[in-house]
Amino acid sequence: MQAFRAALLRFADDGSALYDEDGLLVVGPDAQGRKVVRAAGSHAALHGNYPGVRIEHLPGKIIAPGFIDLHVHFPQTDVIGSPAEGLLPWLENYTFPHEARFADAAYARGVASVFLDELQRNGVTTALAFCTSHPHSVDALMEEAERRGLRLIAGKVLQDRHSPDGVRDETEQSLVDTEALIRRWHKKGRLGYAITPRFAPSCSEAQLRGAGELAARYPDTWIQSHVAENKDEIRWARELFPQSRSYLAVYQDFGLMRERAIYAHCIHFDDEDRLLMRDTGAAAAVSPTSNLFLGSGFFDYEGARRIGFRHGLASDVGGGTSFCPFHTMLAAYYVGREGQTKPGLSLSPQNLWWQHTAGAAQALGLEGVVGNLQPGCEADFVVIDPAATPLLARKTANARDLDELLFSLIVLGDDRAIDRVVIEGAAAAAP
Ligand code: GUN
Ligand code: ZN
Repeated sequence: MQAFRAALLRFADDGSALYDEDGLLVVGPDAQGRKVVRAAGSHAALHGNYPGVRIEHLPGKIIAPGFIDLHVHFPQTDVIGSPAEGLLPWLENYTFPHEARFADAAYARGVASVFLDELQRNGVTTALAFCTSHPHSVDALMEEAERRGLRLIAGKVLQDRHSPDGVRDETEQSLVDTEALIRRWHKKGRLGYAITPRFAPSCSEAQLRGAGELAARYPDTWIQSHVAENKDEIRWARELFPQSRSYLAVYQDFGLMRERAIYAHCIHFDDEDRLLMRDTGAAAAVSPTSNLFLGSGFFDYEGARRIGFRHGLASDVGGGTSFCPFHTMLAAYYVGREGQTKPGLSLSPQNLWWQHTAGAAQALGLEGVVGNLQPGCEADFVVIDPAATPLLARKTANARDLDELLFSLIVLGDDRAIDRVVIEGAAAAAP
């Protein structure tokens, strides 16, 4: 067992933050030998219970759950900052040509390593990631994540139509490959597999049907896709699937709406779509930096709250502009402001932080496993330095309460504030 003494942030079941200014986090093996949180709370109350356990004291630092990125494309690490009129020209001019380079397995392995370094530098310890349509792109990412002991979920992209040579796959083979990858990687250590139809317009009916069949045959796999991101995309999806009630309903019609199904964007929804999300247990990966960068629109937080469906935060790199959870939370704050019907503050800092940690875990069906530091959670956490830059140090020193402290980090923080990343109780090597 080992213990860490610092300020300690975690979340209650209702999503509110729990904060101990002088906290103790005790980490040790569970019955399966996995390093988990054994105790969390105030140092004064807990330390007497652990005589002989080595305590590392981190004065001035904050221990917080590792961040979860609910939607990110590892092959788009180098696509960040590619300006386009909107989603469809961005895919055609930058993204598909770039993803075609992942036909080269050595190139894919190189980017996988850079991508995981970036997640780690930014304090992201779990991600739900798209690979490319090339099956070896999944092997490249999974092998590297396994080596680092990360809890990572990823999948081979399915796109058998409306896609250029180099990224387009073949219907039957794509489904055979997906099943082989599920068998190879799903539940191998901390890894998980996500069935990954790119988006309805890039998938034939046969491919979507096959994906839905696999999702039923392997019910604890994840599903990831995109929906209702951009007006032109929606028009196209509606033309291709006129029999479905809405774009989102296409996925329902092919058996792709269930718990552990994570849909990126979910911007242009009506209430029937929101009810479908709620009733199936699917979740939205809200991707504010991407939506602002590509001019896609604003996620309707009020609508999500009113109907009550699961949602959490995502970078959506490379449509998204940053791996940094602080930047994503700040963009979500702006988006929350934009969509407000009543005057007042936007999303609270505690809620923004929850959406990128415990709330994201709930969206993945991994509540109590990652994204929090309650007893039993896997010991993935970050050590935050609230004095990492001169301005951040001034601002956090003057914070009068937890909300002011968290908001200072959200507005002024970046990767410099991530002092250390701990994966399953062990400090991750510096990239
Ligand atoms: N829709 C289909 N593919 C993509 C992608 O790679 N990024 C985003 N943002 N939307 C998509
Ligand atoms: Zn995406």
